[in-house]
Amino acid sequence: MSKEIKKLVGDKAAAYVEDGMTLGLGTGSTVYWTIEKIGEMVQQGLKVQGIPTSIATEEQAKRLGIPLVTFRDVSHIDVTIDGADEVDPELQLIKGGGGALLREKMVAMASTRVIIVADESKIVDRLGQFPLPVEVVTYGLDRTAYDIEQLGGKSTVRKKDGETYMTDNGNIILDCDFYPITAPEKLSQQLNMLPGVVENGLFTNIADTVLVGTAEGRVIIK
Ligand code: 5RP
Repeated sequence: MSKEIKKLVGDKAAAYVEDGMTLGLGTGSTVYWTIEKIGEMVQQGLKVQGIPTSIATEEQAKRLGIPLVTFRDVSHIDVTIDGADEVDPELQLIKGGGGALLREKMVAMASTRVIIVADESKIVDRLGQFPLPVEVVTYGLDRTAYDIEQLGGKSTVRKKDGETYMTDNGNIILDCDFYPITAPEKLSQQLNMLPGVVENGLFTNIADTVLVGTAEGRVIIK
């Protein structure tokens, strides 16, 4: 997706932000533009506070002067805006391409409304062509990978710059091929039952609204 489409859809999502809101601030190259826009709005006097879903987003929000809070300060979030790697017709998602899925799911599930920003390449009939990210503890990694394989998913340890990728929480990501995912909610529950799994990237019944940026420069609301 081009930077222009990401910016178009990212900017558009900022229109859902109102004075006084507590915001969940997602992670990724699309919601990056929403956060930049919110930063501009804050500089113009908007009063909001945000909970970031990653260290990268926290750093961006700090740079922009967006006031930040934690779950110690608030128990509820008004609106979370975040990206996605795949969106199906029921607005079920795969997330975690950026490795922030655990914090993203915690923040989204504490939110009254969850808005997803994406481009049309993320819209799919069936989830799973994007390998499903599963955050696992380092201990017993091979056993967890075996357990995931028993559920039908071949997994690959995520690498970055030739090294094993570590999440902000000090865990590992297994990118798992479960295509086609026919029952996302069931698979999500099965994965989260495995002792070595911290969280998985299936976001079922979480997204309320999806803003889709198109190549023609339009934003479709789902
Ligand atoms: C990070 C995510 C991102 O929201 C997802 O990967 C989409 O990112 P981008 O907008 O850069 O395509 O889930 O964990």
